[in-house]
Amino acid sequence: MGYRIALLRGDGIGPEVINAALEVLNQVGFKAEFIEIKAGYDYWKQAGKPIEDGALEVIRKCHCTLKGPLLTPPGPGTYKSVVVALRRELNLYANIRPFKSYGESARPVDMVIVRENTEDLYSGLEFKVGSTALSIRVISEKASKRISRFAFELARKQKRRKVTVVHKANVMKESCGLFRSTFFDVAKQYPEIQADELVVDAAGYRIVTAPETIDVLVASNMFGDILSDVAAAVVGSLGLAPSANVGDDHALFEPVHGVALDIAGKGIANPLATILSSAMMLNHLGEYDRAKAIELAVDRLIREKKVLTPDMGGNAKTVDVAHEVARLANEIMARL
Ligand code: NAI
Repeated sequence: MGYRIALLRGDGIGPEVINAALEVLNQVGFKAEFIEIKAGYDYWKQAGKPIEDGALEVIRKCHCTLKGPLLTPPGPGTYKSVVVALRRELNLYANIRPFKSYGESARPVDMVIVRENTEDLYSGLEFKVGSTALSIRVISEKASKRISRFAFELARKQKRRKVTVVHKANVMKESCGLFRSTFFDVAKQYPEIQADELVVDAAGYRIVTAPETIDVLVASNMFGDILSDVAAAVVGSLGLAPSANVGDDHALFEPVHGVALDIAGKGIANPLATILSSAMMLNHLGEYDRAKAIELAVDRLIREKKVLTPDMGGNAKTVDVAHEVARLANEIMARL
């Protein structure tokens, strides 16, 4: 099948980790036409816009999108986050972030954070009144229902037993209250799955102290964003956390991490998050064997502890990890 994949290489370590993923995809025999979309900080500096014109139309015609991280300068005066806009414009309402401890681990972690991707404080509704800045938190029943259903359907498909809603309904009684009550309404349609709740601060504590008790977490946009980095630290590195942004008509795959300017250009970025994101893409496309080969290769690489980047305690380069995962995945592929 002739796949068309939109490719955004990203800023900072983006091009390094995307190249690694492309090498691995190639080695498992995934054939696709990759259509490059120019976007990000460097592009903005030369073109005066953060993403090329007509990008959305091109992306919509592709089977899905593979993306590296994009830099968004803080504060007013520049452009708004490209990825937040893409999630909204393409209606990629569910952000799926699996966190797994690969290799041998004293405390095996296997949780999924399902983050609502279109609303909350990330709606960009901000303004100033005199010297006070205001930000509007948008939580609708429609989006809360959609993301709760998505989380329960994911739990059912992956044979998981519990879905926990994250909120702060004791303080934000209207917005979090609606998110929470909608979740428990939806839960009634899934009697075989336990519905649970955690206040967001307790959720952060639980992820660190007892991650093995968490199965699926469903959270509004900002809580899901913050808790994802906490979960990434628990499984070992941000460089190990993949993600999928999924809607009814399109899906975009990207690592959870950002552009990591502190290590960009040094060739030491961990490419595993992007490689695992590309495996999520293969699963989405129905290329299950190829996805499995990549996941098993990553598991073996971490178990063997020989070729790891510095964030995981090794001294390998990004390209070394890419070559090794590609080699292992190719070997595993031949046996599947
Ligand atoms: P960051 O994820 O870029 O870096 C946080 C820390 O994790 C740094 O110490 C970095 O070196 C380390 N790290 C991240 N990825 C790594 C990898 N693959 N291998 C080894 N170490 C890794 O987070 P930060 O500094 O908050 O964000 C920087 C920029 O990235 C911001 O401009 C933000 O807008 C952008 N960003 C973009 C995202 C996207 O496009 N989806 C997501 C998150 C941030």
